[in-house]
Amino acid sequence: MKILVTGGCGFIGSHTVVELLNKNYEVVIVDNFYNSKREVLDNIKEITHKSFGFYEADCCDETAMRKIFKENKIDAVIHFAGYKAVGESVAKPLMYYQNNIDSTLILVKVMKEFDCHKLVFSSSATVYGSPASLPIQEDFPLSTTNPYGTTKLFIERILTDIAHADNEMGVVLLRYFNPIGAHKSGLIGENPNDIPNNLMPYIVKVATKELPQVNVFGNDYDTIDGTGVRDYIHVVDLALGHIKAIEKIKDTAGVLIYNLGTGKGTSVLELIETFARVNQVEVPYQITDRRPGDIAACYADPTKAKEELGWEAVRNIEDMCQDAYSFVKKVKNL
Ligand code: WQD
Repeated sequence: MKILVTGGCGFIGSHTVVELLNKNYEVVIVDNFYNSKREVLDNIKEITHKSFGFYEADCCDETAMRKIFKENKIDAVIHFAGYKAVGESVAKPLMYYQNNIDSTLILVKVMKEFDCHKLVFSSSATVYGSPASLPIQEDFPLSTTNPYGTTKLFIERILTDIAHADNEMGVVLLRYFNPIGAHKSGLIGENPNDIPNNLMPYIVKVATKELPQVNVFGNDYDTIDGTGVRDYIHVVDLALGHIKAIEKIKDTAGVLIYNLGTGKGTSVLELIETFARVNQVEVPYQITDRRPGDIAACYADPTKAKEELGWEAVRNIEDMCQDAYSFVKKVKNL
């Protein structure tokens, strides 16, 4: 099978490409390097010793996307490409709606022209908004509180309607919880250039002394220690979930929805403590005000993915902390 991976040089995309190549899938990456680096291509080759196709293009460029499908018989697509910063989406909603939705509409249009009917979509637990109870199951009500999350919700609806009108189309909506960590090789991982919005890359920059301390956004939530609780999942476990999704959808049609999480919640302070302990490094922090829009707690019920995909997360929080730090130490030659 030949799989097109949009955003395949990104954090989750690159880890998924590695696992696809390890499983002897043929892979074509399309990426415009908006939120990724060209060197990831060499790192994927160094990890897998496999070749793959690559196109530098924007998924909103219909001509470029048609060229990819004209030059490759694509059997299925994993669609990661899209803007993903919650805060930025609040400031620039038009950019988020245009990019994330247009790119998906163009992708699906071209897929249909070239008789490609299988799509795995990178969705997010953010579509659940603030859940009424925990753990979260796939049939929980959906509601979003920021434009980024709303693009995910809209795209889920769009793909569902398209699939229902086409009996050959198979769509898998994967709702990620909080992906962190890095490949054991230390060659690919998450290392944003700017000041990170997300907790783990922020912790890493404090550990490497690029930033002075972690600002813990509130310790008055109704959680184990008052700080926010999230379901952190190792990015390699997440990548392997995509392989299972491809295996599932290649012979079926319709819309399948799965939470990809561990089912375990970890608080901000627990993550900071674990990171410092397993890496034997200082991670100073201070308690600050809550971040607007944050919810107290969010973690998955991953039962459906286990039963229907035969997938479950196996790496623990210690693995995630160790691998995240190993990657950045390698990048910075520490
Ligand atoms: C985690 C916890 C913060 C930073 C977002 C998106 C989600 C997905 C993952 C794309 C919260 C606390 C954070 C900091 C802190 N992204 N925190 N200090 O908000 O759960 O999810 O990123 O798909 O869609 O919504 O992740 O890492 O930003 O926050 O105290 O400097 O850490 O309050 O409790 P979040 P996060």
